[in-house]
Amino acid sequence: MILALFVCAFIGLNNGFRVLVVFPLCAPSHHILGRSVATNLLESGHEVVLITCFPDKEKKINLTQIDQSHVFELAQKRNNKNFEEEFKLKNLVGRKNYVDSLSFYYIAHDIHKWFLTDDVMLNLLIDTQQHFDAVVIEWFFSTLFAGIAQVFQAPLIWVSTTEAHWQVLKLVDEISNPTYTIDMFSENNPPLNFLERAVELWNVFKKYIFLTCIVEPLEKNVYNSVYKPIGEKRNVTIPSFEDAAYNASLLLLNSHSSIALPFKLPQNVKSIGGYHIDIKSKPLSQDLQKLMDEAKHGVIYFSMGLNLKSKDMTDNMRDSLLKMFSELKETIIWKFERDLENVPKNIYLTKWAPQQSILAHPNLKMFITHGGQLSTTEAIHHGVPIVGIPVFGDQHINMRNAVEKGFGIAVDLSEDMVGELTAAIQEILNNLSYKNKAKELSALFHYRQMTPQKELVHWVEYAIRTRGALHLRSPALNVPLYQKLYLDLLLTFVFVIYVLRKVFNMLFPKKSSLKVKIS
Ligand SMILES: *[C@@H]1O[C@H](CO)[C@@H](O)[C@H](O)[C@H]1NC(C)=O
Ligand SMILES: *[C@@H]1O[C@H](CO)[C@@H](O)[C@H](O)[C@H]1NC(C)=O
Ligand SMILES: *[C@@H]1O[C@H](CO)[C@@H](O)[C@H](O)[C@H]1NC(C)=O
Ligand SMILES: *[C@@H]1O[C@H](CO)[C@@H](O)[C@H](O)[C@H]1NC(C)=O
Repeated sequence: MILALFVCAFIGLNNGFRVLVVFPLCAPSHHILGRSVATNLLESGHEVVLITCFPDKEKKINLTQIDQSHVFELAQKRNNKNFEEEFKLKNLVGRKNYVDSLSFYYIAHDIHKWFLTDDVMLNLLIDTQQHFDAVVIEWFFSTLFAGIAQVFQAPLIWVSTTEAHWQVLKLVDEISNPTYTIDMFSENNPPLNFLERAVELWNVFKKYIFLTCIVEPLEKNVYNSVYKPIGEKRNVTIPSFEDAAYNASLLLLNSHSSIALPFKLPQNVKSIGGYHIDIKSKPLSQDLQKLMDEAKHGVIYFSMGLNLKSKDMTDNMRDSLLKMFSELKETIIWKFERDLENVPKNIYLTKWAPQQSILAHPNLKMFITHGGQLSTTEAIHHGVPIVGIPVFGDQHINMRNAVEKGFGIAVDLSEDMVGELTAAIQEILNNLSYKNKAKELSALFHYRQMTPQKELVHWVEYAIRTRGALHLRSPALNVPLYQKLYLDLLLTFVFVIYVLRKVFNMLFPKKSSLKVKIS
């Protein structure tokens, strides 16, 4: 009997769940994170439907991929936008952080709207045969997709591909206090001085007003027009946009305390940074293995990531880098997406680089990177010091954290950055403190209760088995901002003082008014 119960419980626990994973952004780095969510769930015996722009050719049992690349292409054409052109390296030199503008929210909203109103997505939502136990969605500056969880009546799990920041935390907790936390795109570094605190407060205020007054009404509009009719078809009640937006069970952050500055988090926010990394590095190609093994003076690896491409540099920048690298005695592996002639012999260009395997090689001296979150995480996973050339988005804050932590040096992207870059490379080669720090942080990175891959699966299962993990929710969600700021108390106080003064004045009229002129 007991054995039977035990077996039943065991079987019950091993039930596969069906999970919808939505990573709509058509950027390879975002896709890597989405695909890893899917892969880790699949490996734990769950079934996954993955919505992505880059479906794998290889078929997997229990994985259904829904290709959304056509949406992005079409929508760009219709809206006369070309993100590929805008994100070319040569077009980003000397520009203000591309995504740190209010109009960026429009773009994020637009992108989500395109995906949501496309037939492929609508058909999935309307299909009454589709049932999911949980919905895992990338949050990227739009909350429109919260309705997907409502359609399927399943717990909503947000994934943020960056460090914690107030705009995403606001969905599960409250706006983080700007006296000690900075905006994602801020240029300040805590601890903040008087002026910096004012700047941070202004950042939050400006964006909050814009989001509340401009973006949210747009989102609400699309939300109502898309989800309400689908709800009727599926016979489920779709709550208001606010109720859906602030009803996430968990928020998973692609970050870890070893690479980020500390952040105050509510109980349903989990940092699972590193979950996309292969547990065992794949072997290098024969060419690269030989090159790295035999590099007498060590190897420097240079890649601007998957979204930015080295081939889109200006000729001047490319040539000055080639010249600078040729003067080093180290071997350089440069991810460069096209063929070049007359490449100096210590430089090896490759159109595609197996980054994790290169970082794992013991002969690697440093990694020159754009400072993307995947790259900095992988560098720390393998304990490699970095030189960063941040370009846009979270790359600036990632690099500032790397500098603050002591495992990297940041260089400003510019046409004539070679001097600064050489100095940074020499500093990392000659001053062992960066390498030692990277090793130390790497140990911290690996010192966890369980691997981030297991943690990811654990928390998704947790949200399902506890029917939404309601007990972990922050009480701050239910308290309106005016109460948090005690504006009601202040108002009451002012009112009481006012009344008391009136009463006082009535009881004890001022002498002056009674003064009789004595002549
Ligand atoms: C596929 O998913 C089902 C549950 O939906 C599960 O029982 C089965 O073990 C999975 N198969 C594999 C190969 O993971
Ligand atoms: C919020 O989420 C929980 C757990 O997924 C669900 O049971 C509940 O119905 C949701 N509430 C609203 C208003 O959507
Ligand atoms: C819709 O749901 C309600 C309440 O859950 C139920 O009473 C009703 O029969 C359902 N209608 C259909 C058509 O399934
Ligand atoms: C090495 O770098 C660290 C961190 O920037 C610095 O504190 C230290 O003084 C440097 N050491 C030398 C010998 O320059």
